[in-house]
Amino acid sequence: TGYVTYDPGFMNTAPTKSAITYIDGEAGILRYRGYPIEQLADSSTFIEVSYLLIYGELPSKAQLEDFTDRIRRHTLLHEDLKRFFDGFPRNAHPMPVLSSAVNALSAYYQDSLDPRDPEQVELSTIRLLAKLPTIAAYSYKKSVGQPFLYPDNSLSLVENFLRMTFGFPAEPYEVDPEVAAALDMLLILHADHEQNCSTSTVRLVGSSDANLFTSVSGGINALWGPLHGGANQAVLEMLDDIKAQGGDVKEFIRKVKNKEDGVKLMGFGHRVYRNYDPRAAIAKKHADAILRKLGGDDQLFEIAQALEEAALTDDYFVERRLYPNVDFYTGVIYRAMGFPTRMFTVLFAMGRLPGWIAHWREMHSEPLKIGRPRQIYTGYGARDYREIANR
Ligand code: CMC
Repeated sequence: TGYVTYDPGFMNTAPTKSAITYIDGEAGILRYRGYPIEQLADSSTFIEVSYLLIYGELPSKAQLEDFTDRIRRHTLLHEDLKRFFDGFPRNAHPMPVLSSAVNALSAYYQDSLDPRDPEQVELSTIRLLAKLPTIAAYSYKKSVGQPFLYPDNSLSLVENFLRMTFGFPAEPYEVDPEVAAALDMLLILHADHEQNCSTSTVRLVGSSDANLFTSVSGGINALWGPLHGGANQAVLEMLDDIKAQGGDVKEFIRKVKNKEDGVKLMGFGHRVYRNYDPRAAIAKKHADAILRKLGGDDQLFEIAQALEEAALTDDYFVERRLYPNVDFYTGVIYRAMGFPTRMFTVLFAMGRLPGWIAHWREMHSEPLKIGRPRQIYTGYGARDYREIANR
């Protein structure tokens, strides 16, 4: 009944009001709760930004200590949940392992599932923030057949994640402070991006009053796609391929322009930005310095820069206003840090988690309306059923 607007891809539909993140795609501006992303990336920490997104304000010293301490007390996974990982094949991509284990949190932590009980919502918030890095590290350990490490809660969230990912049970692990700082900054860049595909998924799942764990698991699945968070893996695979074929950037750009075999310049283009993605600018600025410190693959970074230069001066990209997005430069940094390509999207999920939680909670702070889009029906009119013998 009534008037239905046809809007494939939700190009012009705002299903919600939100006070969390501001984007001006024409000007290339991104702010969390009013704070410019550049300032947060330079001066804040991922845990502080998580607090800001979820609760709306930067924390006082006491609030930050309390928040950090509460997260610290929840980093362990239930022992049975640890065994859940055994059921996956070793060559599984870590993203479905991650989303499955996050969904399984609703089976293991049943005392924090009620979306209408603020204390339970708070507990599931803390549990997710604390346990996602542990689950992420275990999804990596599973893929390389190495033993899981218990969290060491004397370390920060990011240090703990690095140790659980790259450390071994019987050996001391020295966290490289440069790597920890760079990863922390990259997580800040990913922490929220208003109504993107995965966040909209979290909201839509949550709009049925489904619990926070299960809603976030839905978001992780949406993030995996190569048009969304999966693009960071796809970018590095693209750079690796170009390198393996002799580094001919011009030839690659030609293929993209002719849409040969559907080849896209991965890490380019964005639904909202019609200008340089400010996150890409920050990642690019840091990539150079980080690669020099960590001794990464300069050639991949050079190919990426050459691709950018070729694209930004080419009519195809200029006319369509396609610029590098956040995924374009992050992969070369993750590789320099030692992460295998398949872990890149897991790192994106770790970063995006506070944004998903903030949106889910914002939605529940208002009268809940189930997400239920309409359609334009294009099928048959009424027709009579035919017995199978007559078809
Ligand atoms: N390479 C080549 N052509 C492109 C690209 C690209 N990366 N992106 C867009 N185009 C072309 C597209 O083919 C279309 O051309 P035409 O008008 O001739 O059909 C035009 O530009 C408009 O693109 P669109 O696909 O209609 O735009 P959209 O807003 O629906 O899609 C996008 C946005 C991000 C899905 C798309 O730009 C894309 O597929 N980019 C590559 C994947 C990627 O890097 N994704 C990461 C997005 S940012 C962070 C995140 O979410 O993870």
